[in-house]
Amino acid sequence: MSFAVNFSPLPLRSPETTTGGNKFPKSTSSFTRNRPMLSFAATNSTEEPQTTTPEIELEFIGPKAGGDGKYPVDRASAVSGEKLLRTIMADNKLELYGTYGKLMNCGGGGSCGTCIVEVVEGKELLNERTNTELKYLKKKPESWRLACQTIVGNKENSGKVVIQRLPQQKKK
Ligand code: FES
Repeated sequence: MSFAVNFSPLPLRSPETTTGGNKFPKSTSSFTRNRPMLSFAATNSTEEPQTTTPEIELEFIGPKAGGDGKYPVDRASAVSGEKLLRTIMADNKLELYGTYGKLMNCGGGGSCGTCIVEVVEGKELLNERTNTELKYLKKKPESWRLACQTIVGNKENSGKVVIQRLPQQKKK
């Protein structure tokens, strides 16, 4: 860290305020007021402390293949343990729902079962399936999750999570 030293100019000394035969200023604070000011200010430096907030990198594989047969991939990142997958997708304007879900989803309340995603990679960076998921995804592959129930990270871990959007629409 480096410092910038700022010497402010010496103020002109005001006339001594004395009364009668008193040779001393009325207030001793005039001594400190007339001293040059010395201040230190931290400046930009390459030695700034590194932020240690763990982050999760996410990749979202699009539900439909492009003309070249490849699935589009969108990327995002999130502070570990801070947000639900549904919120991260909404923040990044990534469509989560199929046609029915767009119209009938419960807004993240865990009562519609339409916010399905597939966790392709990074399952260990997410919370365990909730009771709501156990109910709605009982007969679905274990890699499927409800985005409104899925917390991305646990505040301490970091890594990469790969999500398949609308796995129920993906042709095998
Ligand atoms: S949005 Fe309804 S269960 Fe997730």
